[in-house]
Amino acid sequence: MIIDPWSSQNYDYDKLFDNFGISRFEEHLWKDFPSPPFFFKRGIVFGHRGFDAIKYSIKNSSPWALLTGLMPSGKMHFGHKIVIDQAIYYQKLGADINIAVADMEAYATRGYSLKEARKIAIEEYILNYIALGLKPCRIYFQSENHHVKDIAYLLSKKSNLSQVNAIYGFSGSTNMAHVFAPFIQTGDILHVQLEEYGGLRPTLVPVGVDQDPHIRFCRDLASANRLYSIIPQNGKIGIFVKIDENIKELLDEAEEVIKEEGEVVERKDGYKAIYAKVNDLYALDRKLAEVERKHDAYSFLLPSSTYHRFISGLDGNKMSSSRPQYALFLTDEKEQIKKKVMAAKTGGRISAEEQRKYGGEPEKCMIYELFTYGIVKNDEELKEIYEDCRSGKMLCGHCKKKAYELITEFLDELREKREQARDVINEYLP
Ligand code: TRP
Ligand code: SF4
Repeated sequence: MIIDPWSSQNYDYDKLFDNFGISRFEEHLWKDFPSPPFFFKRGIVFGHRGFDAIKYSIKNSSPWALLTGLMPSGKMHFGHKIVIDQAIYYQKLGADINIAVADMEAYATRGYSLKEARKIAIEEYILNYIALGLKPCRIYFQSENHHVKDIAYLLSKKSNLSQVNAIYGFSGSTNMAHVFAPFIQTGDILHVQLEEYGGLRPTLVPVGVDQDPHIRFCRDLASANRLYSIIPQNGKIGIFVKIDENIKELLDEAEEVIKEEGEVVERKDGYKAIYAKVNDLYALDRKLAEVERKHDAYSFLLPSSTYHRFISGLDGNKMSSSRPQYALFLTDEKEQIKKKVMAAKTGGRISAEEQRKYGGEPEKCMIYELFTYGIVKNDEELKEIYEDCRSGKMLCGHCKKKAYELITEFLDELREKREQARDVINEYLP
């Protein structure tokens, strides 16, 4: 089984933990954050890799970056919104926000020219991001950033064809620009740790779970390019030099860093190893990566990621621009919304009488799902809807009307803000 980031799949979310080693996004990770947002409380963000580094940075008010990307293709729908909701939340917490426009990926995999991709990115995505409340931050185009492309090329030396085929299932006829897309995405994710963009620091990549192969690949490439490996074992930390040149010098330098952060337990030059006790593993990691950079290595801290569940389309399958009648777009007009909402799959019973008797099933209902994905903001209100549905007190006709009103109200406001966004878009673009 593989996850293919370029095709739409249905996911059995529970299997992703065991099959791919994604960790559960448990409550203790976020419950101390200021006003926890709906996508945490309602389980929409469900998985992560290495989020502890981000939690650590937030807790200690130390610098960290957020990098996510958008594929400029089709139109922006409610499923695309969740990642920007997250960026907006983290921006308020002080994250340095970076957004990649994947124009090269759109060229390689979707057949758009760079010019078309740029236009779609601005009109369909970036204006909406600003309208949704994203404050000035850095948005850039892959094709225009040579640091991104350099990292893609330089780090690619530590990977090979078998590895990418095993992850992505490429075949002999896959075009090479497509094969290179994951490397460019690695460039996106890691370049924010270059000196020019703020230096070595934890980086969070919030994405839909279809992007996990890219995250795994990026973390593999980052770790393959490190000169030290740092391995916690039995209460100690093992620090090993991975190369065969400058071993003594690298061990000496590691020893100095260790003394700043704790103590050396044992040094074994023959094993290219030092065992240590340190208080702050993150600080140790960062300082060792700095040492590596002095040796001209392409060293980066492993990026962290979070994964959100995809919102369903109104028929219960995946929401996607390729099935427009079942997707809710941020630019939909009232009439379209009415039609789509009225035709949506619900958890209602075959007759009003049955529904009053047995109650509805919000778990199976696309209208209820829309409510949970942010259309209803207040948790108490959401709970009330749930209970009124379950008990049969509320019927679907009434509920859909409510959904229609909330959605149109939200989109009317967004439309206005989108027009105002045109005046400030230059504060976001290079
Ligand atoms: N591949 C992503 C998509 O299909 C877009 C993307 C490009 C991205 N670079 C990124 C996402 C970096 C996260 C981080 O939507
Ligand atoms: Fe869905 Fe509302 Fe009908 Fe319940 S009453 S099944 S929540 S539309």
